[in-house]
Amino acid sequence: MRLQKYIAYSGVTSRRKAEELILKGRVKINDKVIRELGTKVDPDKDIVKVDNRQIKLEKKKIYIMLNKPEGYVTTLKSYHNDKIVIDLIQDIDERIFPVGRLDKDTSGLLLMTNDGKLAHRLTHPSYEVLKTYVALVEGVPNGKKLTKFRKGLKIDGKMTAKAYIRITKKYKDTSLLEISIHEGRNRQVRKMCKYIRHPVIKLKRIAIGEIKLGDIKLGQWRYLTDKEVRYLKSL
Ligand code: URA
Repeated sequence: MRLQKYIAYSGVTSRRKAEELILKGRVKINDKVIRELGTKVDPDKDIVKVDNRQIKLEKKKIYIMLNKPEGYVTTLKSYHNDKIVIDLIQDIDERIFPVGRLDKDTSGLLLMTNDGKLAHRLTHPSYEVLKTYVALVEGVPNGKKLTKFRKGLKIDGKMTAKAYIRITKKYKDTSLLEISIHEGRNRQVRKMCKYIRHPVIKLKRIAIGEIKLGDIKLGQWRYLTDKEVRYLKSL
């Protein structure tokens, strides 16, 4: 790779400015000042320094969404012979990891990336973006219970934050609910539904903020669009 390109791809500056740096003698390859534009760099072997500080190529950032099936755990390693979500992502060489967690028995939208900064922000309690779920529950909750659910319930000794819940379908002995919460506590939706005595039978996440699962088939994944990535970074 040409030196000025290597510098630009390291995120230091533009390619044109990189050329200026080289001409000014501020760039070294393996501790030797290089003033020749177009000098070749081997990214695997050579050490490139700008103003005596080593620079490295930025890794390509990857952002994908997976429709996680039930039965897969959201960890990077399999501990009890469990199936893990990463097994479903073929053809990607970069190391990517899940953003947050879905229970083994929950299906639906899971974001995965190698962008540690974004993953950290999206899961940090002070940023917690609204996550939306569809829950099949036992029975049909009445208005009083829905209000309680929205205002806050004491789960594991701590009140839950404001939540959203609405009934989207009523069956004879069960109902379908759409639930949105900001927090990401352990098994939170299941615990909240159990608290109002309508235990979850099935749970699926359908959205994270404005990122929607859409019609991706179970176990399939796709890259996020540039627009979706920009949206997540803007949160
Ligand atoms: N709430 C749950 O109970 N389970 C999940 O996987 C996500 C949210």
